[in-house]
Parts: sequence; C-alpha cells; structure tokens
Amino acid sequence: MSTSSKVTISFSDGVERQFFALPGQNVLEAALKEDVPVLHQCRSGSCSSCLAKLVEGKADTLAGASSTLIPSEKAQGLRLLCVTEALSDCTFQLGYDSAVGTNQATEAKAFVNAIDRLADDVVRLELELAEGDWFEFRPGQFIQIKVPGTDAVRSYSMASTPADLPRIELLIRLLPGGVMSTWLLEGAKIDDVLEISGPYGQFFLKEGEKAPHIMIAGGTGLAPMMSMIDALRMRSGRKPKMLLSFGCQTQGSLFHLDAIELRQQWLPQLDVQLSVDRGPAPSGVRVGNPVEVIGASEPLDPDSVAYLCGPPGMIDAARRHLEQLGLASENIFAEQFVASQ
Ligand code: FES
Repeated sequence: MSTSSKVTISFSDGVERQFFALPGQNVLEAALKEDVPVLHQCRSGSCSSCLAKLVEGKADTLAGASSTLIPSEKAQGLRLLCVTEALSDCTFQLGYDSAVGTNQATEAKAFVNAIDRLADDVVRLELELAEGDWFEFRPGQFIQIKVPGTDAVRSYSMASTPADLPRIELLIRLLPGGVMSTWLLEGAKIDDVLEISGPYGQFFLKEGEKAPHIMIAGGTGLAPMMSMIDALRMRSGRKPKMLLSFGCQTQGSLFHLDAIELRQQWLPQLDVQLSVDRGPAPSGVRVGNPVEVIGASEPLDPDSVAYLCGPPGMIDAARRHLEQLGLASENIFAEQFVASQ
C-alpha cells in the first residue's frame, strides 16, 4: 500500500507550512501545489535554488534523478527538493524567510552598457534594464540570460547590488567554444538587447547578521561576494568584520584587484587574501588555494557566517575546513559554479 508522507517546511522566520507528498513525487512539486513559497528554477537538480536541510525524517534522491550536491553536503542533511522524495513524514529547514519565495522571478529586457576584458578568461558585462522593466533581488542571487542567436540560457550572479539597479554588473568566465563566450568575443556590441529573467537562487546575504563574515571565492565566484561586500558597505550601523579569500588558477587569470583594493580603502573591516593555484605570483598574492588560508594566522570566531562560491571541489574543501575549525554547518552557505558546455 502506498501512503503519502506529511512534509513540514520550516522558514527562517519561524513560519511553518505542511502538506502531503506522494511516493515518487518530488517534494518541490508537492509544495508548489499547495502554494508553499519555495525558491526554485531548473526543477532538475542542477541550479541548487531549491536547497533545503532535512532536519527530521527520511528523504532521498528520487530513483533515476541526479543532483549536484557534493557528498559532504548530503551528509549534513542538505537536499534539493526538486529531485527529493519523502520516504517518511519529514521536516525541511529553509535558509530564508517566508517572504523571499513570494518574490517571483520575472522576465525583462536589458541593454549592453559595457563589455570589458578583465583577464585571460574573464569578461565584465554591464547591462541596464530597459525602461519600464524591473526586478528586485538580494545580494548573491543570479539571473539567467538567453544567449543571442541561440536557444541557450546561462546563469550569472550579480556583482552589483540592488541599489545599483537599473544597472547590473556580471563577471563571466570565458570557456573555449562556450556559446556565451563565443557571443561575447565575436558578436556582442554596446546597446545589444538581451532577454533576461530573475532573480533566482537562495545564496544571498542574510539580513542583519553581526557576526564576522568569511567569503571564499574561486574565479568568477567573486561576483556574488562583490555584491555582498558592497551591500554590507551601504548597510547602516556597525559593519561586521569581513574576510575575503579570493583565488584564481594563475597570475594571468587574476582579475578585479583594483576593485577589491578600493573596497579595502572604503571598509577598514575588510581583510583580503589573494591566491593563485600555481606560481609565479605577483607581490601580495600567495601560491596555494583560497581555503587553507582561513584560520591559519588567527583562530576563527565560531559564530562566523561563511559564504562560498566557486567550483564544487573548492566548496567541498572549504566546508570541511570550516567545520574542522568549529563553524556550524548551518552558518555555511554555498553556491557552486559549474561550467556549461
Ligand atoms: S530547482 Fe534547480 S536544483 Fe531544484
């Protein structure tokens, strides 16, 4: 006999919603049927927007489905609700309040304002929303862009803040043969019009957090950190201590150092560590990874919150390192950057 499971979704503001999920049904679908405002986007286990933490009961990945979660994330109870089946009555904790998911993604048009090559493999793309188009987002979230002349859609985190709208700044990694890379290098012109949609994702700055902020970024994973740092700078009241550890593969792929230095001048609370995986390294840049430097010179405040953005291997290593240093897993937030082919 197949019976449905009672699922409780618990938001960070204490709001709880309950509904039933059928065997073989993904939890996201069951939640949306009952108008529970769970963030989502791809519905196929690849974007991490529907990330939740299983805190009670049993729930696992649906047969035949795959998720981008890395082993350490699954081990701490994290699940992607769009590919997760409830195997008993269970409770999931969400890292955002019940108002966030009601902020639906919208479609908009945006003009290309600037295209700047920042490094061997990084382009800064500045857009401006078309007159009359608008959306709200939180620092750390991403948008999707339809690549002109193709059906391909690509996701990029905003490096700018909501206060910068209608201007939007993106940091885009160039991939050999990639559709967006090819368009940027061969077709993109100032004033081109792009179809975009957003905001998406639940990787964003937590409101009102006073504890030290640790930000670990690999490559263009720097984009959401720039948005968060600038949002913290604009926040009224005392700023938290911030540590940004930013790593790239080589000296030639390092970028945005002037922009980072400017933030250090504006924000005495901001400490920055720069690294390259392989030498040679310019002055002030270490050879190594951006994870190992955390906690190396002074003990970590165990109440710190950490934001991680970069390739899956970096996220996995950073999570394990931070937990070994005493950081609670619920205070570690991550966004994986996986290259699209
Ligand atoms: S909605 Fe994208 S991973 Fe679930």
